[in-house]
Amino acid sequence: MARGNQESMSSATHPDYRPGLEGVIGGITKIAEINSASATLTYRGINVHELAEKSTYEETAYLLINGRLPTAHEFEHYKRTLAHERPIPESVSNILKLIPRNIHPMDALKVAYSALAAYDPDYAAAPTDHAANVRKAERIIAKAATIVAAHWRICEGKEPISPDPELDTAANFLYMLSGERADEETVKVMDASLILYAEHTFNASTFANRVTVATLSDLYSGIVTGIGTLKGPLHGGANEEAMRMLLEIGTPENAEPWLRSALAGKKKVMGFGHREYKNGDSRAAYLTKMAKKVAEKKGVPKWVEIGDIMTKIMVEEKNIHPNVDFPAAYAYYMLGIPIDLYTPIFVIARVAGWSAHAIEQLDNNRLIRPTCIYDGRSGVPYVPMADR
Ligand code: CMC
Repeated sequence: MARGNQESMSSATHPDYRPGLEGVIGGITKIAEINSASATLTYRGINVHELAEKSTYEETAYLLINGRLPTAHEFEHYKRTLAHERPIPESVSNILKLIPRNIHPMDALKVAYSALAAYDPDYAAAPTDHAANVRKAERIIAKAATIVAAHWRICEGKEPISPDPELDTAANFLYMLSGERADEETVKVMDASLILYAEHTFNASTFANRVTVATLSDLYSGIVTGIGTLKGPLHGGANEEAMRMLLEIGTPENAEPWLRSALAGKKKVMGFGHREYKNGDSRAAYLTKMAKKVAEKKGVPKWVEIGDIMTKIMVEEKNIHPNVDFPAAYAYYMLGIPIDLYTPIFVIARVAGWSAHAIEQLDNNRLIRPTCIYDGRSGVPYVPMADR
């Protein structure tokens, strides 16, 4: 149904109906909070900027899953567990070799997690078994970067590289892609972006993940749902589309005419806008600063310049701010990451948030089943096939 139709029906006959569920409360969570007015995001009460500055993705994942920061001893143990769980079974690697090479890595991720469910030692555990779910979450989080890098190398006709037990998620991902250890600054940008991407309340993919596990399905099914939902360009897929758009724009001189023509043509500008933030996305502000440092270091100012021009016009003309996917796109590009891996990197991060939400949902579960307005025909007789 056309959006205009939905809205007129909403105001005319069903005042409670909110197209796109805008503003509808979908549940209660203790995991993260978005404050739209101040454009802040906290994980378990801690500002995400502070985490990006002082923490690591691993520590943030622990915080999201367990509800508090780990002690030094707990963190050492957690890191060892993640290192132990990073490799994927050879048969899953073989499945990645069997599927068509031309599919998007997001589809490969769905295949891999579907298969991995069967190898989880807690496969047979009850869906509400909290301890088993925490263990599953550790395995899910540990394996994401390994899957993405292995699939990428397979598509390039190369053998996957085993994870290095000494490296954390960000460094390991970069290592497993190229076989070389990345420099400290590159790892820091990747790690901070993983922290910023790790969790974001009841966004589409997290909500879909909660809907899935709320049927008393399992964590892996929730992850596969989340990946499928994140893939679209209105959600996680926006970081790849934003970079393709920037490449089409090409030069700072072309940014303004390109953007004005896009706006005149009612085109969606990828990497801009957000349902929850109308005064700007705090993650975008943080990542833009990081991207600017990368641009300075690499002596490549053009993407930042294009970004600044577009941001100024979008805010002035439409009061629409960049979201996290916009600076992520050109930051990853400057780091030399292939564009098709931007949304999979989002997955590498978001598996922590999805897992935390799945566990929270299953700890206090009720089936999620909204109602709807029927707007179709009624009393339609069945016409035999020969008479149609
Ligand atoms: N470019 C141009 N116009 C826009 C944009 C944009 N990026 N975003 C919103 N608008 C306009 C939209 O056309 C509409 O105008 P009008 O009322 O005249 O029809 C108005 O702003 C409201 O937009 P909406 O699409 O109804 O807002 P929404 O809350 O349903 O959608 C959104 C939010 C993120 C889907 C949307 O802003 C969008 O499509 N952005 C581009 C895709 C994108 O960057 N997605 C990443 C989201 S953040 C990170 C993540 O979750 O991955």
